[in-house]
Amino acid sequence: MTIKDTPGTKIEALSVSGGRSGEGRREIPSTLLTDPATIAPVAGQARSASGSAGAVTPKKSGKGGNVMETMDESSPLGRELAREVKRRERLSGKALPKPSSTRIMTISNQKGGVGKTTTTVNIAAALATAGLQVLVIDIDPQGNASTALNIDHHADVDSIYDVLIDDVPLGDVVAPCPDVPNLICAPATIHLAGAEIELVSLVAREQRLRRAIEVYAREREAKGEPRLDFVFIDCPPSLGLLTVNAFVAAKEVLIPIQCEYYALEGLSQLLKNIEMIQKHLNADLTVSTILLTMYDGRTNLAAQVAAEVREHFPEQVLKAVVPRSVRISEAPSYQQTVMTYDPSSSGALSYQEAAAEIASRS
Ligand SMILES: Nc1ncnc2c1ncn2[C@@H]1O[C@H](COP(=O)(O)OP(=O)(O)OP(=O)(O)O)[C@@H](O)[C@H]1O
Ligand SMILES: [Mg+2]
Repeated sequence: MTIKDTPGTKIEALSVSGGRSGEGRREIPSTLLTDPATIAPVAGQARSASGSAGAVTPKKSGKGGNVMETMDESSPLGRELAREVKRRERLSGKALPKPSSTRIMTISNQKGGVGKTTTTVNIAAALATAGLQVLVIDIDPQGNASTALNIDHHADVDSIYDVLIDDVPLGDVVAPCPDVPNLICAPATIHLAGAEIELVSLVAREQRLRRAIEVYAREREAKGEPRLDFVFIDCPPSLGLLTVNAFVAAKEVLIPIQCEYYALEGLSQLLKNIEMIQKHLNADLTVSTILLTMYDGRTNLAAQVAAEVREHFPEQVLKAVVPRSVRISEAPSYQQTVMTYDPSSSGALSYQEAAAEIASRS
């Protein structure tokens, strides 16, 4: 996987080779990020499609009519609601397959605020709710994943810091998520902020998380506990030793990409780092999954960023797209994922779809 940066542009050309598709090398010029004129948002685009204000008009108010029957599908909102009902129907009662071995995924993007933590906790919660055994490892000193999963992470709690620096067994720091069955979390505390520096002088500094997970998996087996189906590692927005530990521990990288201008900025650096890890520390690592987040359907910008990313990474990008949603952003302030905070919201539906797609790629 290579990316060339050209001075004066964000990414001039972007090429992907190998990966799942194995379809060889692709060279696609990127103009989106060099010409802001091409990405002006179109206000009220959703309305202009039909010229309608989008009100939901009851069709027939016959007794026993379901939502589908009472929605006027000729209005944009009616069509949107009908689409959502169909998406829910497709998901309902669908059992998710267990992977043949534990899938360890690192959620990474050194760009801040793109939805790494939100993606980690919601996909983890969706898979766990569907009956899979899931562990979330929070290696971001901000501790946002621990907060969203309602796991204690004040300074006195044993955390992933103790695992990485003091060789405390991972099993001693994991705690069950109180709101989601089958979901456990290794929390991050503020001590982790110093770990980047403390790790530098330690033996096998890049391998410490990997070894801790391997030992924990053996311990669970010895105790007769169920095998973990998924381990998700929520990374900080940097490419330091904590993130390197996550890349070495994982087989897969999941990159959330925000559907905004500059979305691909910094991606070249991330992919170069992953290449270095593949070369020197973990030959098994692949960028298996890309998830488009914070998609705002009212702008041309979001659609153009999504199209651009899909063109570059046709095999990796999930069909499911996460919309910009107030419910998703509110959930962490109640120490919840959107899956428990508002399971009927469109944000929860999108994360369920993304989780189902990830599970089906096992
Ligand atoms: N789909 C969404 N709709 C609305 N808000 C969102 C969405 N996804 C994430 N957010 C909000 O955006 C902010 C950044 O999200 P998040 O913390 O998941 O990003 P991050 O990549 O983990 O950030 P950091 O780089 O700081 O770790 C948070 O306030 C979150 O609630
Ligand atoms: Mg985060």
